Amino acid sequence: MSTTITWLGHGTFEVQAAGMTVLIDPFLTGNPSASTTADAVNPDAILITHGHGDHVGDAVEIARRTGALCIANFEITQWLAAQGIENTHGMHIGGQREFDFGTVKLTIAHHGSMLPDGSNGGNPCGLLLKLADGTIYHAADTGLFGDMKLIGEEGIDLAILPIGDNFTMGPDDAVRATNFVRPERVLPDHYNTWPLIAQDAQAWAERVRTETSADPHVLEPGGVITL
Ligand code: NI
Ligand code: MN
Repeated sequence: MSTTITWLGHGTFEVQAAGMTVLIDPFLTGNPSASTTADAVNPDAILITHGHGDHVGDAVEIARRTGALCIANFEITQWLAAQGIENTHGMHIGGQREFDFGTVKLTIAHHGSMLPDGSNGGNPCGLLLKLADGTIYHAADTGLFGDMKLIGEEGIDLAILPIGDNFTMGPDDAVRATNFVRPERVLPDHYNTWPLIAQDAQAWAERVRTETSADPHVLEPGGVITL
């Protein structure tokens, strides 16, 4: 069974791995680029990179309905517990843990993480997912940082990098990040959701083709890439 990654729009992804469904940052309600709805997804696990509303999104409602295991930094799992979500697993940056769908390691990300109600969401994170068919580095919301080179040393089959600018890296730094991480393939996210983060992803992909060794893949929301 192959591993597939579906972009649900903005920073939201659905990963099918080892017969399980893993949702990353399930922001569907109120997401103008969402390709599905919160009541249509049935994850076994939910990964949350940081506390912002466009990432925590519908996590509480989906977890309540499905009982999915919510994996995030410790502060966010404590906050989820306070919302009545019992099936959580707290981690922290640099820590790695094996789950039924694969291994999750939290990486640094340079960003904020305040939760929608103002609670402390700890430090923002990226995700290193070691799955049966390969390794994904999902940078999540972050600016460029040199330690992406260290993450790249793990051997990245697919990197997911934000290109929207303003809140995260923009196209220029995402090209530089691609050269730091040196993935086989790179997928842009966190753009075109709102006018403020509008970007020409095809133009960015052309730069990746000429300025890096990675193979760029641009999806429309709902689009699928196979690992
Ligand atoms: Ni954010
Ligand atoms: Mn965001």
